[in-house]
Amino acid sequence: KSIKVSVPATVSNVGPGFDIMGFALNVPVEEMILTIKQKPEIKIKKITGDKNKLPFDINKNTATVALKKMLDKLNTNIGIELEINKKLNSGSGLGSSAASAVASVFALNEILNKPFSKNELLEFALQGEAVASGSIHADNVAPCLFGGFILIRDYNPIDLIKIKSPKNLFCSVLHPQFEIKTSDARKLIKKNYTLKELLTQTSNAAGLVTALLKSDYELIKRSLNDVVAEPARAKLIPGFYEIKNRALENGALGCSISGSGPSIFAFSKSLDEAINIGNEMKKVSSRYTKKNIIYVS
Ligand code: HSE
Repeated sequence: KSIKVSVPATVSNVGPGFDIMGFALNVPVEEMILTIKQKPEIKIKKITGDKNKLPFDINKNTATVALKKMLDKLNTNIGIELEINKKLNSGSGLGSSAASAVASVFALNEILNKPFSKNELLEFALQGEAVASGSIHADNVAPCLFGGFILIRDYNPIDLIKIKSPKNLFCSVLHPQFEIKTSDARKLIKKNYTLKELLTQTSNAAGLVTALLKSDYELIKRSLNDVVAEPARAKLIPGFYEIKNRALENGALGCSISGSGPSIFAFSKSLDEAINIGNEMKKVSSRYTKKNIIYVS
């Protein structure tokens, strides 16, 4: 028995929502074929599209770590073989490692006739993703699994809130072709913040959620300010502030780093604008980074 699944790329943090907000793009990040085997072992048969970077060691690959957590809970040791086809490089800031963890547990759950709820699958996937990023954060895993825009109100126990977003909200993503490891980028985040920074971050996060719910584009524009991740990580992305300014000059409602970078996302109201903004961001980034890819969603 075999199943093939495809899972989406995700943008996490979304400006002021460090570790608590993310949304799914309609850009596939990974395809996976999961096959049930006689021999009771978990094995990765093939990985393509990753430039030989991802581990075959089942204790290190996010897909198999998540699967192991799921099998432990089921208390069985069925045989599983995976074929992973990456559509985006890892270390892109677009939730590639989260996607592997989600794809594997989602695929197994389907093949076993859904013994687990999506919330339970989320727990397994989170533990899988933690091996790549060095921390538990659901802002890629949750939107990858549930789709749409997700707020993680709490982690213990996990409390996810699906946020309706405006019908006409488009996203341009610039992916400069180099890798940033989430675990490295997390080391740059300060541990302590002033009261003023706390207020800026919480008021913007609240503003962004309200703006999405009310389809208030002007409020989206005012609410993407991030004082936690962006100022700490901008230096990792050559030309970041120039790229951001170019997006804003071309009508973007807001622009920031996607996850831990190097991808950069920008919101806009129409597909034409989103394509134009993507092209403009690429022009600026090309001065600093040789190869750049844009996605529009
Ligand atoms: N919220 C996480 C971070 C996402 O910014 O470190 C990483 O993909």
